[in-house]
Amino acid sequence: MTVRSEKNSLTKSLGVALLSGTLSLTAGSVLAQEKMPPEQSMSSLEYELIGRDDLWTYKALPEYHEAPYLADMVAEGKLPPVAERLPSEPLVMLTGAMVDGIGEYGGVFRHVIGGRPEGWNHLAGQHQGWGGINMAMQECLVRTGPLWQVKAEDQSGPLPNLAKSWEWNEDNTQLTMHLVDAKWSDGDPFDSEDVRFWWEDNVQDPNVASWMPPEGMGEGTTMDVIDAYTIRFNFTEPQGPGRVNSLTYDTGCPGPSHILMQYHPKYNPDATYESYRTALPADELPPVILGAWVPVVHRPDEIVIMRRNPYYWKVDENGNQLPYLNEMHFKLTTWSDRTTQAVAGTGDFSNMENPGNYVEALRQSQSPDSPTKAEFGPRVLSWELQLNLSETLGVEDEVDAELRTFFRNKDFRIALSHALDRDAIGQSVARGPFTYPHPGGFSVGSPFYDYDSTVYYGFDQEKANTMLDALGLTDTDGNGIRNMPGTGADMEIDLTYDNGEATDKKQVDAVVQMLGEVGISILPRPVDDPGPLADAGNFNMMEGRNHWVIPTYGTCDHIPVSATCPNWHLTDEAGNRNLFDWEQEMVDAFNLMQQTWDPVEAANAAKTIQKNWTENVYTVGLVQAPAALLINKRIKNAHPGTPVFMFNWAEDNIVRERLWTASEDQIDELLPGTIPEY
Ligand code: GLA
Repeated sequence: MTVRSEKNSLTKSLGVALLSGTLSLTAGSVLAQEKMPPEQSMSSLEYELIGRDDLWTYKALPEYHEAPYLADMVAEGKLPPVAERLPSEPLVMLTGAMVDGIGEYGGVFRHVIGGRPEGWNHLAGQHQGWGGINMAMQECLVRTGPLWQVKAEDQSGPLPNLAKSWEWNEDNTQLTMHLVDAKWSDGDPFDSEDVRFWWEDNVQDPNVASWMPPEGMGEGTTMDVIDAYTIRFNFTEPQGPGRVNSLTYDTGCPGPSHILMQYHPKYNPDATYESYRTALPADELPPVILGAWVPVVHRPDEIVIMRRNPYYWKVDENGNQLPYLNEMHFKLTTWSDRTTQAVAGTGDFSNMENPGNYVEALRQSQSPDSPTKAEFGPRVLSWELQLNLSETLGVEDEVDAELRTFFRNKDFRIALSHALDRDAIGQSVARGPFTYPHPGGFSVGSPFYDYDSTVYYGFDQEKANTMLDALGLTDTDGNGIRNMPGTGADMEIDLTYDNGEATDKKQVDAVVQMLGEVGISILPRPVDDPGPLADAGNFNMMEGRNHWVIPTYGTCDHIPVSATCPNWHLTDEAGNRNLFDWEQEMVDAFNLMQQTWDPVEAANAAKTIQKNWTENVYTVGLVQAPAALLINKRIKNAHPGTPVFMFNWAEDNIVRERLWTASEDQIDELLPGTIPEY
């Protein structure tokens, strides 16, 4: 899908292959005249990188402490002592990686989101709420978000999380992982059985739309339970450290087998796959999770309130059980309101990602008494037009069918690219220096973006017209619109986009005008949620945000690594899909990244993808923009270098379990003294 690249990645991503920092090799040359203009980064992020082992470790500490109200509950016999609730060796967040150090307990963190919880059964593909609810609830075998803080030479795969360590056999065909002996939020032990249930009865069950597709750990991969806290993946071919990244959010996150098994058709003859998917509705609380805060109140379109998980399995170096913050709010409004409220100080956090707001938000956040500060990162957000390359899916008549033959024609796609004045599109989105043309492929702020591998078909209306003429597209009936040679129909293309996003609307308006000028009529089709149309491949042209930054995060949003993706080139019901050779080359390059132990080889594979994508105009890029993170100044340990999006979104990058607020700055809790009750 297009609207939120993440959403699709979540549906289908194959995970992330993190590579070493040696990413600036020169790649094969491309036509000298088809190059991108120079880019002026707006990033003001400055920070020192640390070693991967400086972030956290696992060890038993001599004593443990907890939020005072939990200690009271222990004294009243309502909870077991903290040492019994924690693992034998908890995950210990190291003080050296915290800008403000060890925290104080208490207080509230206020999110504002445009997302809504769909339901709590994420194992069956539901989302619990974009904008930070998902990430607060799910814990995954490994973690990648905080890798932005790690030195290039230490970027050899993900960070440990539920899997505290792992090792490979000699020929790299077996990966053995050791699990932390954490507890679920209801006190039930987390163990290999939960991982087995996730893998066997969800990922590998073709009837369950798991976030990880069945081939997400490689074709033919199996998993064995070795003992209660050890699992092993067996691969059909040798793999590299990149493969482990598939086990990060949100593809590698187990759910509570002790709750879910009773609803799964394999264990319950009365259940169906649909009843399983919806077994944990968003109005039944609290769900059982491994995350730091548990939803306890959900008032639809109003608020989700989350309270600390008394069984959370992470501590600081003084043995204080995390998180520090007692309560989290998610006000359920709009994405744009998230920025407005962060700037006004009624929200604590925003990924500022709507360039139309930037000038005003920057102006307000620069005053010394502003509650927040805007810090721009590199340009990682990009928008594009996707042309449906399927010959059959969503094709309703012979006109659609003929349109698709043009979409599949490289010269047609190049002509569209030449018809677009991306500087003007950018200025219509936000006046000023914010946007930069997007040629497709990796965003310019990605560590994997390579200038020399990027082909750019910039604005040249005359060239666009010449190319369209040469394709036999001429205006035979004099109405200003080119006619297609086969059906004789006007070249009229429906363009689906999200009507809730001003950034998209402005780009669509510009595209309508610019393509109109070369005789192509665009019929805008605004919809509330393009997701279902996108996922079904039921569109001709789609506009939306779909940025690619780390090659293996959200892979399925971008290249055909599975039959179920990307949305603009899906396999049809009969199993047909006619991939181009250069699409297959991108998939092969990605597979190499998952298998190699040589970072130079992996970096070169990313260049192969970039070159194939941009030379062939796989999608017609529009513009790319930086994002800025807004965090209320009262929040401590919010590292100033945190990117809005890199290995993951800022909600993960900022490591919320170690955020805190000085007691004098703490906001009153709505549900003081409470824990989730089961
Ligand atoms: C949505 C938002 C992003 C981010 C993610 C996190 O996609 O647009 O800024 O908050 O949710 O899930």
